[in-house]
Amino acid sequence: MRIGVLTGGGDCPGLNAVIRAVVTKGTAEYGHEFVGFLDGWRGPLKGLTRPLTAADVADLVEVGGTVLGSSRTNPYSVDGGLDRIRHNLEDAGVDALIALGGEDTLGVAKRLTDDGFGVVGVPKTIDNDLSATDYTFGFDTAVSIAAESIDRLRTTAQSHHRTMVVEVMGRHAGWIALHSGMATGANVILIPEQDFDLGQVCRWVEACHARGVAPIVVAAEGAQPAGGAESLKDQERDAFGHVRLGGIGDWLAEELEERTGMESRSVVLGHLQRGGTPTAYDRVLSTRLGLHAIDAAHERDFGTMVALRGTDIVRVSLAEATGALKTVSPERYAEAATFFG
Ligand code: F6P
Repeated sequence: MRIGVLTGGGDCPGLNAVIRAVVTKGTAEYGHEFVGFLDGWRGPLKGLTRPLTAADVADLVEVGGTVLGSSRTNPYSVDGGLDRIRHNLEDAGVDALIALGGEDTLGVAKRLTDDGFGVVGVPKTIDNDLSATDYTFGFDTAVSIAAESIDRLRTTAQSHHRTMVVEVMGRHAGWIALHSGMATGANVILIPEQDFDLGQVCRWVEACHARGVAPIVVAAEGAQPAGGAESLKDQERDAFGHVRLGGIGDWLAEELEERTGMESRSVVLGHLQRGGTPTAYDRVLSTRLGLHAIDAAHERDFGTMVALRGTDIVRVSLAEATGALKTVSPERYAEAATFFG
């Protein structure tokens, strides 16, 4: 077989480790050939490719980013997009695709499968919000980066008796906020799944100051006050209809300073959470997902996504994976809330 590989959506530590595993096993065990499509779905749409041999991918296990490039291109929002993809895949002599992505990229993969082309998906996103898998690769790295940053912010906050608000990624799901906040003993964690009561946040912050602790408030970018709205960077939408979030940290720090009288600062961790080398956990998870993805493609088990269940890698349908986002349950949030204030 000749198999195309692409990486779509926001980049994520571990993408290169998946590519390495797919190509290494696919070449050595099955004798398949590979072609890399560049910049997510823009590659198949515009016929942008690069060679992808075992030698090309041999040393990629710890390298961040993606050697294939990425974009948020949605071929279904382009006139004649499906026909152009069909034509370009045929031109490249490709029999199947392995697509590494989150809800948007894999949503396209599902539609392509429905439209008769063979695609296997691999779950990628630092947000960890894809259904049907316990974890996505990249999440552990993002949480580790956020946790190290929060540890560092705590000492400077303590020196200055300040409230420190840390804004982390997480558009619709607060997994990064929840895990990085729990790991660092954050005094308040705010997630998109539960609107927060500003008065209650002030009371937690004041309780910390009263006992001589500089409070750390971890806020997911999609968190919002009850009766308020998401903080947006601007009004633009990407090809999948998503707005760019950002600003909740600054807004909250100002409100907290005004309402509690305690000096406050905010830090936006932003794309630092997606950059650099994956953790050892993510390298292993990515490698295992890649090994199983090439098995699925070899067996022509299309319309599937490889997923982590417990410690096993299993196959689920792309429909199940992209049907609904995996969000933080009230029970999981309540566990973290035990330590607020
Ligand atoms: O990939 C997911 C994500 O990191 C979200 O957490 C975040 O809202 C978004 O991507 C940022 O996208 P961009 O890189 O396009 O600014």
